[in-house]
Amino acid sequence: MADYRFPGEWMKDGMILQQNVTSETITKLESFEMSEDDVLIAAYPKTGITWTQELVWLLNNNGDTKEALSQPVYHRTNYLEFNSDYVHSGLEMKQIEAGKVKVIVVIRNPKDTLVSLYHFYRMALPLGLFEKSWDDFFELYKVKHLIYGDYFQWYSTWLQYKDKPNVKLVKYEDMHHGMSDVINDLSLFLGKSLSQDVAANVMNHLTFDSMSGNDMVNYKRSPFFDFKFSSFIRKGIIGDWKNYFSQIQSELIDKSYRNTIEALGVSLEFI
Ligand code: A3P
Repeated sequence: MADYRFPGEWMKDGMILQQNVTSETITKLESFEMSEDDVLIAAYPKTGITWTQELVWLLNNNGDTKEALSQPVYHRTNYLEFNSDYVHSGLEMKQIEAGKVKVIVVIRNPKDTLVSLYHFYRMALPLGLFEKSWDDFFELYKVKHLIYGDYFQWYSTWLQYKDKPNVKLVKYEDMHHGMSDVINDLSLFLGKSLSQDVAANVMNHLTFDSMSGNDMVNYKRSPFFDFKFSSFIRKGIIGDWKNYFSQIQSELIDKSYRNTIEALGVSLEFI
């Protein structure tokens, strides 16, 4: 099972990429200059990217949910990764170090992230509609053969920047427990402010029920997914991992978590 390859996958510096990412797009991205008011969302797949994108877009657009409902989030936001999946590119790191661009690093506990990624593999046509079991998928994690590379390696890189003034860490679990605190925190970080009424409307727009029924964020109109296998906005809970992980699998993640994320001073909630 550990030799599963999705159609057209290839590897650059140990990172698994999709075929729509070419060497040329990587070269272009490496010389791409970000502007001072750009906001970069850096997140491993399935950590709450869509949720964060929608929130950040609303903060940048006076909480205009009406406009947000008029076109898909993937048209209102640029995906550097669709130009290049090459998230470790020197360009981003240099500009982040120089404090040139604001970066929101999104993180979610690794166990729920992997379960969510498993369901994503099952429904994503470009990833070959993975048909095997959770245990088979976990083998791919163990041999570090998942798209965008290893979760822990990914965060070991990005969390090094977490204390810089132009970098903000957002935890999926915090968005669950207190979206209003996250809104306040991100508003300050981005230099935006919403009135109480507008913030309440934004919070309403960002609930799981609202987002799962909203075709502008649930990817229902995207041709890249087969929804008979899973939804994109699927369960949206903390702790789904308990329905999948064996004791051994769980301990393996705990160990990596202690050695990397916790060692870098970040603690995550697993419930
Ligand atoms: P699950 O598969 O665990 O349900 P990404 O956008 O990075 O691909 O992440 C998708 C994950 O975020 C999915 O997790 C999805 O359900 C969850 N998610 C998206 N919007 C959410 C919301 N409003 N509330 C809670 N979870 C949400």
